[in-house]
Amino acid sequence: MPIYPKPSSGSESVRRLLLAVALPAVLRLGPAAHGAPDPACAIYPGAEWRDDRGAVINAHGGGFLRSGGRYYWYGQHMVEGEAGNTAQVGIHVYSSEDLCRWRDDGIAMPVSLDPRSEITKGCLIERPKVIFNRRKGKFVMWFHLEGKGSGYSSAMVGIAVADEPAGPFRFVRSFRPNAGRWPRNAPETMRTPLSQAELARLSGCKMNGGPSADFPIDLVFRRDFAGGQMSRDMTLFVDDDGAAYLFTVAEENATLQISRLTDDFLGVTGDYARVFPNGFNEAPAVFKRKGRYFMFTSGTTGWAPNACRLSVASSLWGPWRQVGNPCSGTDAQKASTFDSQSTYVLEVIGQPDLFIFMADRWRPENPPDGRYVWLPLRWRGDLPLIEWKDSWAPSNLHG
Ligand code: DGJ
Repeated sequence: MPIYPKPSSGSESVRRLLLAVALPAVLRLGPAAHGAPDPACAIYPGAEWRDDRGAVINAHGGGFLRSGGRYYWYGQHMVEGEAGNTAQVGIHVYSSEDLCRWRDDGIAMPVSLDPRSEITKGCLIERPKVIFNRRKGKFVMWFHLEGKGSGYSSAMVGIAVADEPAGPFRFVRSFRPNAGRWPRNAPETMRTPLSQAELARLSGCKMNGGPSADFPIDLVFRRDFAGGQMSRDMTLFVDDDGAAYLFTVAEENATLQISRLTDDFLGVTGDYARVFPNGFNEAPAVFKRKGRYFMFTSGTTGWAPNACRLSVASSLWGPWRQVGNPCSGTDAQKASTFDSQSTYVLEVIGQPDLFIFMADRWRPENPPDGRYVWLPLRWRGDLPLIEWKDSWAPSNLHG
């Protein structure tokens, strides 16, 4: 028996009836015995997904953390209407033992009602990611922050900390990373501020967040040297040695930048690299398998989906190599990443070689109705494939 009804297959009344019958039964079930497949635990990519109270899960652009035997899911709480794509509530957190049944743990980091706050209601807080800092015993959240009313021009990271995984998270600060530092892979000839002629050229360039024939690719990071590098879509990655890295979309979306975090995870060290200049990638999701690093990204088409891109590297600093579209399916599915955009890859503990591709099916006209597309990676040789499944069970994938 599926624990969540398949919403696309029936009318609202049928859906409600199924929910009324199925949900109480589900909530009575405990986790499956160790190693035994749990028939009640299934994931329905793209379907409406309800929490332990029967409310639709509201955690978009999600990031995941495992702590104390539970998975934590942090995401943007979105509301209906025009303001819905801005931060009206804050970052929502849910937790689960089995990845199917999610308990609502509330708002981990609320927006501020103080109009002077950097995280004031109406700003943009996107793609929260949380990692645990062993040294300080703190949970550290990083997110993409845009000042209220600034569109996407502030391009900053925000940081918040908490003592417990579900929060409350206390906002610490926001900034543009790596001010006054040159990328480790910038040639000596580029390590100079812009000349007057270059500044004049830059002021004539239209930069709209997407590729263009005359994009001034090696000018923007130099323009941002003094004030810090732009940072929009982002993710965090903690390597096996405990070092943490920020992967961020910089330079007017043209280039990814990878930055080493400080040991307390509350800042960047100033050591960073540019990756795929002029590649126009968004939505980075990074993971490691058998000593190799993998990154999914999308192209830059706003809320509209586009084709996923897979990159691999044997060193985190690169070189990164783009190896094409990892999706397998119809042309439409491949061109739209199953109508979704990457946000995270979760390695499932206790399931050999199970990595979950996690993505958002954005609905900007009705943001809370955005859906979650979670698909298990299949491996063909050393490269992952993403294939559609109407439903699948995390505990039974290799059964
Ligand atoms: C694409 C990004 O990946 C999303 O997080 C969001 O910022 C939208 N752009 C806004 O258009």
